[in-house]
Amino acid sequence: MSRKPFIAGNWKMNHNLKDTFAFIAGIDGKLPDPEKIEVAIAAPALYLVPLVHHRGKNTYKVSAENVYFEKSGAFTGEISPEMLAAEGIEYSIIGHSERREYFHETDEDINKKAHALFAAGVTPILCCGETLETFESGKTAEWVTSQIEAGLKDLTAEQVSKLVIAYEPIWAIGTGKTATPEIADETCGVVRSIVEKLYGKEVSEAVRIQYGGSVKPDTIAELMAKPNIDGALVGGASLQPDSFLGLLSF
Ligand code: G3P
Repeated sequence: MSRKPFIAGNWKMNHNLKDTFAFIAGIDGKLPDPEKIEVAIAAPALYLVPLVHHRGKNTYKVSAENVYFEKSGAFTGEISPEMLAAEGIEYSIIGHSERREYFHETDEDINKKAHALFAAGVTPILCCGETLETFESGKTAEWVTSQIEAGLKDLTAEQVSKLVIAYEPIWAIGTGKTATPEIADETCGVVRSIVEKLYGKEVSEAVRIQYGGSVKPDTIAELMAKPNIDGALVGGASLQPDSFLGLLSF
């Protein structure tokens, strides 16, 4: 089964409104055929609506970087999946390692977010990944398996077929140390095998798995050449238009 490649930028806590408009202008008319490559920009919540309203003929999708799992209510500071859907925002990252580390999000929290996003018609980008210590002790497969099994709990086969999973080894995030294409492909293969075990071959062939962790324009092609890697979730190299566009030629 052919899976459409999916490259997403994750701006994290960077940029302002002026930068956002400059970014849109910088990529204007330069994105690849959306039938061939899907592109998304995940930005701080303040800039999601401007990204949607000012995309013009550009075909990028828009993603939140996080979301809460309630529809509405007394949850100061949070945004809901329904708010994203109402503004035409197509995706939300959930379970990024920085949210698990700094904001103590658990696998159970992330599973609730996945359910809430699907209920609102927004597609989750579910992150997983291990620390350097786990990697060096050879326990990556075990760790990622526990994250994915918990993150997918009670999701339907149809939902998982639409899901995007991002494998991001924590030791490669922001460090300039990209995992080798072989390591990245091996663990993305582990993720796909977990999906197959839980949902069967058809769903495991449909789910798209991104690699994230110091992806750059000069490393994207060898990563995308690997059978289990369907895309990338990119931080630093997604912030500037030229570098972001460089991630799309592979
Ligand atoms: O979500 C993507 C991010 O964690 C990777 O960041 O800067 O290593 O590409 P970076």
